[in-house]
Amino acid sequence: MFTKDSIIGIVGSGAMGSGIAQVAATAEHQTLIFDTNAAALEKAKNNLNTSLVKLVEKQKITQDKADSILRLTTFTSQINDLSKCHLIIEAIIENSDVKQKVFQELESLVSNTCVLASNTSSLSITSIASACKNPERVIGIHFFNPATLMPLVEIIPGVATNPDITIACKTVIDSWKKVTVIAKDTPGFIVNRVARPFYSEALRIYDEQLADIPTIDWAMREIGGFKMGPFELMDLIGHDVNYVVTETVWTQFYYDTRFKPSLSQKRLLEAKFLGKKSGRGFYDYREGAVSPEPNKDEALGKYIVNRVLCMLINEAADTHYLGIASVNDIDLAMTKGVNYPKGLLKWADEIGLALVLETLNKLYNDYQEDRYRACILLKNKVKQNNSFY
Ligand SMILES: NC(=O)c1ccc[n+]([C@@H]2O[C@H](COP(=O)([O-])OP(=O)(O)OC[C@H]3O[C@@H](n4cnc5c(N)ncnc54)[C@H](O)[C@@H]3O)[C@@H](O)[C@H]2O)c1
Repeated sequence: MFTKDSIIGIVGSGAMGSGIAQVAATAEHQTLIFDTNAAALEKAKNNLNTSLVKLVEKQKITQDKADSILRLTTFTSQINDLSKCHLIIEAIIENSDVKQKVFQELESLVSNTCVLASNTSSLSITSIASACKNPERVIGIHFFNPATLMPLVEIIPGVATNPDITIACKTVIDSWKKVTVIAKDTPGFIVNRVARPFYSEALRIYDEQLADIPTIDWAMREIGGFKMGPFELMDLIGHDVNYVVTETVWTQFYYDTRFKPSLSQKRLLEAKFLGKKSGRGFYDYREGAVSPEPNKDEALGKYIVNRVLCMLINEAADTHYLGIASVNDIDLAMTKGVNYPKGLLKWADEIGLALVLETLNKLYNDYQEDRYRACILLKNKVKQNNSFY
């Protein structure tokens, strides 16, 4: 369906749109970036120039390649310029009504065969598609930030999406040297759902005063092997983004306690302690601030890692059990989308599913909370002495 001659349109020249455009032009597609905001377009143009100069300096690409990327990229404030596109990826503000209006407008401009995709992190693709006359051509193509560096792309067909379009999108994004996984149109897709316990169980341990913030981060890094601890990572992402994703996933899952947000994080957001970008979050980033020391108690560290990891594995198991994605795609998503040291389901096999289930059952018995219910797939696998791989 798509070839090297396919013209790619990007709507929204912000953080995501400009990155996706660079990826498409690097893959030798003629690429058009549209934004209603002239300043945003100007900024995206400057950022692309700066990024390409750096890539040439670091010898990641040649000057010829940089020139070709620039030649292939057009910035426009006229939506009509997108009429000749074969694939359009929308990356504007996360608002369903605004996105639906943009999709309707795009549909009135483009050919019948043009595919319309959304880069939404949290909205229903099916709902965005429902605004279109032809919802079969609408799909989710979800890049991670920064799009130029993060290999993972989630491909999300909506209820009405034509399966041929799903395959064509997967094929073209693979040809852009990305790692694609297919996810069912459910809140958080794969990564933003499966990763929730990394934050929420760490927050729960902190809220219960079982360990302090530096200790939880130390345990997850040094014992768990994660690149960053949950609190460092939440501070880096920003609580305006991370808390809102948690709250959105929780409400969309009809307030399932598994996804319940933490008041401690909500209070940080209310105080505008957004994390690194605002100088304060769980940690203090202001000049002269002293970093608190962790308690490097081995037994406590292992307890923290085991509890968070088993909750992550449980979510991954449920995501597979409910048909949202394959075992392989879930493990690929978590290693390529959020840099987990291992795929969670492979990790579960290595630990032993019986041990994972024992940890979950103990939490469930201690707390008597639905949050800690073990996935039925995990239970069945233990009964049948089975594994994920
Ligand atoms: N930032 C992330 O980490 C991230 C990661 C994955 C997905 N996403 C998703 O990508 C989308 C964009 O996020 P972002 O962080 O790039 O946002 P952003 O605020 O950086 O950029 C959005 C851009 O869209 C433009 N815009 C707004 N309304 C428009 C319209 N009607 N027509 C044309 N342009 C319009 C704005 O001028 C702005 O330049 C959102 O749906 C978000 O959920 C974001």
